[in-house]
Amino acid sequence: MTAQLLTTLSANLNLVKLPQHVAVIMDGNGRWAKQKGLPRIEGHRRGASTLKEMLRYCKDLGIKTLTAYAFSTENWGRPIGEVNFLMTLFERLLQKELKEMEAEEVCINFIGDLSPLPRSLQQEMRHSMERTKNNQGVFFNVAINYGSRHEMVTACRNIAQKVQQGRISASDIDENTIAQHLYTSASPDPDLLIRTSGEMRLSNFLLWQLAYTEIYVTDTLWPDFDSEQFDRALEAYQQRDRRFGKKVS
Ligand code: IPE
Ligand code: IPE
Ligand code: MG
Repeated sequence: MTAQLLTTLSANLNLVKLPQHVAVIMDGNGRWAKQKGLPRIEGHRRGASTLKEMLRYCKDLGIKTLTAYAFSTENWGRPIGEVNFLMTLFERLLQKELKEMEAEEVCINFIGDLSPLPRSLQQEMRHSMERTKNNQGVFFNVAINYGSRHEMVTACRNIAQKVQQGRISASDIDENTIAQHLYTSASPDPDLLIRTSGEMRLSNFLLWQLAYTEIYVTDTLWPDFDSEQFDRALEAYQQRDRRFGKKVS
């Protein structure tokens, strides 16, 4: 842990009770920009640096996995200019940040259907996944063109194909089979989900994986979500009694 982190860390945080996997719905970039009289794309730009800070903070704290929702299957419905800006932003960020991610031992993984994305972006994504695949410092899943329903449909198709080919039998399909066919097969389920900007919905994010995740919603808009805000979310998480449907102890 860095000396700088030790001086800024909230005294209320219990470092031995941290979530292992945090998922985040980074919402409110547009409203942040609007409040400041800026174009929406400025909000996305600022949102990207918030994500970078959060990833570093996770690594410093020893939170093993961060999964961030960057672009949903429904976000194609936004104005073409905003969609194009986001695609270009993702590509530029990957080019710019790859060296630092390698140095920081980040293992980046993209979840979602990458096939409709611009070819040059897909190339950067594959390249960054390949270059960081052996890193163990922090696992960073970025959901781009991700939709939970689409993910489940794809999983069903793949499982059905295996049944058709006689590789597995229908009666052998269990929860583990389904989990293994999702984009997130390599990660444990999130312990904590954070959604910024006050919306109380999942917006098609990780519907299967969030079955027993603790949910934290804050009114703070994503570009303003700093380490202090994150500490608050972690403190709230530590107050929760995770019963998993079992008897209260
Ligand atoms: C989240 O911020 C970023 C993406 C969905 C890409 P929004 O762009 O949804 O911001 P609001 O919700 O309009 O404020
Ligand atoms: C969810 O935010 C998707 C991402 C953060 C990438 P949206 O802004 O798209 O969600 P809704 O439209 O408010 O449900
Ligand atoms: Mg939004």
